[in-house]
Amino acid sequence: MNDRVRTDIAHNARVWNYWLGGKDNYPVDRTVGEQVTSLYPSIGEVARADRAFLGRAVGYLAGEAGVRQFLDIGTGLPTADNTHEVAQRIAPDARVVYVDNDPIVLTHARALLTGAPEGVTEYVDADAHRPEEIVAAAGRILDLDRPVAVMMLGILNFVLDTEEARSIVRTLMAAVPSGSHLVLTHPTLELGGEGNAEAMDFWNAHATPPITARSRAEVESFFEGLELLEPGLVSCASWRFAASGEVAQFGAVARKP
Ligand SMILES: C[S@@+](CC[C@H](N)C(=O)[O-])C[C@H]1O[C@@H](n2cnc3c(N)ncnc32)[C@H](O)[C@@H]1O
Repeated sequence: MNDRVRTDIAHNARVWNYWLGGKDNYPVDRTVGEQVTSLYPSIGEVARADRAFLGRAVGYLAGEAGVRQFLDIGTGLPTADNTHEVAQRIAPDARVVYVDNDPIVLTHARALLTGAPEGVTEYVDADAHRPEEIVAAAGRILDLDRPVAVMMLGILNFVLDTEEARSIVRTLMAAVPSGSHLVLTHPTLELGGEGNAEAMDFWNAHATPPITARSRAEVESFFEGLELLEPGLVSCASWRFAASGEVAQFGAVARKP
């Protein structure tokens, strides 16, 4: 086991895996996962809606939009339909770079790295708080003169300072050319979600890393200078999908003009 892995405190990547029905988690993660679920019963639905959004967004980008390079920051543990699988099913030559800072994701990275032989699937152990390092590492694998889909699903909520989060997005999007895209999901208290605020307080007292929700206006501000694609910033459950209900997680895709 990677010696950075801590099994005495719940970690986001592992609890997210628990909510998605995965097995890559420890007792401490399952305990916190269950306690959060008891406060906020729709959290499992949020996790599944987020992954389904990923599938639709990557499907659109690799298909209709013709994007061939993906930089997926805050990868999470391998699950069904990871970014490289969705993209390379449509475009086997797609190049995918995964980035996460969780040691357990690093331990499982090999499972992520079995992409199509025509394409590229790589893993970078880096922190979203240092976007310049991510750009430098991505630039060794991707051609940053050609469009890149920068994916930040459920990760900016771990950057507690909104100005820093904006600056991270600006740095990443400045490094990629016109025709690149930003794909983002983010929790909010503005789309219902009974118990969400209490669950986040509980999380911040018992698990790591600490999380924050954001308003529509704050999440919209991450897309400054970009063109939001239809249907704009919506519940990720209903982005290009006729969902029966909303989840308290915004989702959107925007294009760099
Ligand atoms: C909620 S999960 C989302 C996983 C995946 N993107 C999805 O939407 O299913 C957030 C992921 O971001 C990672 N993460 C959190 N803070 C990070 C940071 N500062 N730098 C890099 N990764 C981070 C966690 O380890 C976790 O794997």
